[in-house]
Amino acid sequence: MSTRPGVDAPPPPEAIDGAGVDRLRSGCVGVVPLPARIEAWQRAVLHRPELLRSWIDRHGSPSNLHHPAPFVRNVRALQQVASDRDIDLEVLFARKADKALIYVDTARDLGIGVDTASEVELTEALAHGCAPRTLVCTAAVKAAPLVRTCLAEGVTIVLDNDDELDLVERLAAASGLTAIVSLRFGGFRHDGRVLPTRFGFDLDDAGALLRRLREATDLGRMRVEGVHCHLDGYDVEHRVAAVTQLLPVVDALRAERHPVRHLDVGGGLPMRYVDDADAWASFQVEHRRALLGERDPITWNNDGYGLHAHDGVVHGALGLYPMYQDPVAPAWLAALLDASVPGQAGRTIAALRDRALTLRLEPGRSLLDGCGMTVARVEHRKRHRDGTWSVGLAMNRTQCATAKPDHAIDPLLIAVDGDEPRTGPVEGWLTGAYCTEAELLTRRRLRFPGGVARGDLVVFPNTAGYLMHFVESRSHRFPLARNLVVDATNGAVELDAVDRHGG
Ligand SMILES: Cc1ncc(COP(=O)(O)O)c(C=O)c1O
Repeated sequence: MSTRPGVDAPPPPEAIDGAGVDRLRSGCVGVVPLPARIEAWQRAVLHRPELLRSWIDRHGSPSNLHHPAPFVRNVRALQQVASDRDIDLEVLFARKADKALIYVDTARDLGIGVDTASEVELTEALAHGCAPRTLVCTAAVKAAPLVRTCLAEGVTIVLDNDDELDLVERLAAASGLTAIVSLRFGGFRHDGRVLPTRFGFDLDDAGALLRRLREATDLGRMRVEGVHCHLDGYDVEHRVAAVTQLLPVVDALRAERHPVRHLDVGGGLPMRYVDDADAWASFQVEHRRALLGERDPITWNNDGYGLHAHDGVVHGALGLYPMYQDPVAPAWLAALLDASVPGQAGRTIAALRDRALTLRLEPGRSLLDGCGMTVARVEHRKRHRDGTWSVGLAMNRTQCATAKPDHAIDPLLIAVDGDEPRTGPVEGWLTGAYCTEAELLTRRRLRFPGGVARGDLVVFPNTAGYLMHFVESRSHRFPLARNLVVDATNGAVELDAVDRHGG
């Protein structure tokens, strides 16, 4: 289904210059600003408020907008880093980060793999023509039907624990098929401590695991083609430690004639939501000052996002995704490949090349950097006793959220209808449709220098990685947001296949 609201002109030239971006950002600014990065396709769309409004009127508020061109660019940037170093790299898109099928189709067309985390993710990827050998299944919990599908299709199963190993062995024996597996490990040591994880076999148990695998592989029930890990956080040093400590396991597996060909370091490749390092640094300073009572709060109820002040000292850890960080994905991969491998002569690249090992990555969030935004309509404005305002959107908190406490970049306010009465300049909060006091769409205190009118649109930029779907719920019987794929060149949107098939 294609909806063409009749505004088919290409984006105006001013859509792409710096002044145009400043204008877009000027309608809604944090009391301590965190200006979002805005891609060219987003600027083009945001400069046509009446077109945007027609999409929301037709498909509902909020709607998620998707555009896969940045995905292609992000994949190619990683591939370039590897080819510059003559390293075999396989990128597998971690689909859990966004359910829209446009990215599965794009991954398929690029010839890269998809990391699937559930039976539906897997069967959809197969139905969309992804080659089974390019797929992996990393589901945290694997029930028998999922394992049977992997076996039947020849999809690599990333094994996490003994019970999974038992199940896969049993189902392989029953079906007469060989399971292709990759062994997930945890328990890597870095800087004198073990990196904590609940996932994978403990490295210290690798010897026992290898002994256990002998019978299953001798009987042809299993073929170990890889080793795997996925670490919390974004620290490249942790990945260097993991690669270094997985190499002896690869050697031991190969000594037992397992045809190990890849080493998979999972996802967690960093990205940034703001380009301004100073803005992010100032935000953190001002946030701490607010917690210490040295300035007015900059968050709802002085929310610490995981920090709290006690006796004049701030304790805890900031729970937000790092809105600015350096390096981001391609430079991070370069740093991983160029790192020296402790205890071995040479660098990661040499260790991989010497062993003819393919490096696998499973990025989710960072491949989706720049691909999405979430748009909602203002339904009411309301002044509170303390002088702040709440701006009520047709949207709920789960529609732009992850397990982190906030998506802390400045949203954009797009005025649509010049006839609607506007408030004067106001300051306050974006509130959502669930019935709790804490139903804030972002906990940041925001300024609206040009006022707010009913019917304005609020845009949450860069939401494709996890923010749209990771925790979305249908509480209060609200429908899920629709996912629209934007063709920025002709102003058309098309419902993503995930919604055409019923979500
Ligand atoms: C096994 C595995 N691979 C890849 C990913 C994707 O991580 P990211 O989106 O941070 O790149 C995850 C995320 O949880 C994961 O658990």
